[in-house]
Amino acid sequence: MTTMESLIGLVNRIQRACTVLGDYGGDDNTFSSLWEALPSVAVVGGQSSGKSSVLESIVGRDFLPRGSGIVTRRPLVLQLHKTDEGSPEYAEFLHLPKRRFTDFSLVRKEIQDETDRLTGKTKQISPVPIHLSIYSPNVVNLTLIDLPGLTKVAVEGQPESIVQEIETMVRSYVDKPNCIILAISPANQDIATSDAIKLSREVDPTGERTFGVLTKLDLMDKGTDALDVLEGRAYRLQHPWVGIVNRSQADINKNVDMIMARRKEREYFATSPDYGHLASKMGSEFLAKLLSQHLESVIRARIPSITSLINKSIEELEKEMDHLGRPIALDAGAQLYTILELCRAFDRIFKEHLDGGRPGGDR
Ligand code: GDP
Ligand code: NA
Ligand code: MG
Repeated sequence: MTTMESLIGLVNRIQRACTVLGDYGGDDNTFSSLWEALPSVAVVGGQSSGKSSVLESIVGRDFLPRGSGIVTRRPLVLQLHKTDEGSPEYAEFLHLPKRRFTDFSLVRKEIQDETDRLTGKTKQISPVPIHLSIYSPNVVNLTLIDLPGLTKVAVEGQPESIVQEIETMVRSYVDKPNCIILAISPANQDIATSDAIKLSREVDPTGERTFGVLTKLDLMDKGTDALDVLEGRAYRLQHPWVGIVNRSQADINKNVDMIMARRKEREYFATSPDYGHLASKMGSEFLAKLLSQHLESVIRARIPSITSLINKSIEELEKEMDHLGRPIALDAGAQLYTILELCRAFDRIFKEHLDGGRPGGDR
């Protein structure tokens, strides 16, 4: 791992330990600032625009509930932790700390069950997030957030208020200046009506943290294409638009796996009469690369402020540990100790490798 990866990995683990401690939330303490210090990526878009499908492609694993209608009904905060080459890949939920999932179809089932536990098997939604961590040598250290789709009308059985509730929930994530927005619009609908573009323009008017993603290129009417958008003539953003072809519902029903899906997507672009000339800048794999480059540059720029936050945390934690003479919950004590150790490790690595005006000097 590079020094940069180690540092980001440590902040990732600090964020997770803070979450376990219950300090992730609105209050303005050092722990929540630490959580906010690293960028996260949230998907925004209308219902069934392909948000969950795009997230799965970025991770490269099948594990999210997808389908027509309102499938994602609670926010899913997904932390990817890069581990050393050759280590086993597994997933862990915050609400099931003792269980390691190695079968990702069981991860999907647990997300569905845990959603139902709070919302019932109805079409209700809940703003209470599900926290999932994936540990794997094949991921980049990154926090991704899957969100319910924006909608203009409540469907049968949903209260009218659901439209506003979903928007408020989505806003609470994308309002944050460190949130990178994946604005998902389906190519088979008019972009002028895209909820993703409307909301992202509102919260990020300069477009510096918005990535426009056009899904369902394969479902456009014959004789139409999305070249105006993909070539940057319409709905221009600071970052280039990326076109995507995810699995169709028929593919999902036939259990087409990720490797096959990626191959089909690559073939689609390579052989497309409309998009062939853009093939190297299209598709899920390219989007993942684009995002990780962007994240790395954002994080590099933030290392100094993260470092000072971490030093502040170390001071506060050491004070807190000094007072641990009185009985406190054992688990909380252990978590505080974990955070302290992680912060110290961060500080050590930073001092050894990056201090002295050479950020990233290991490369
Ligand atoms: P979400 O509601 O925005 O999370 O969307 P999902 O990822 O659950 O996808 C909704 C439906 O659209 C599923 O049936 C997907 O198979 C289908 N879908 C998503 N993206 C594409 C695409 O690029 N092409 C095709 N043909 N179908 C897609
Ligand atoms: Na859906
Ligand atoms: Mg979804």
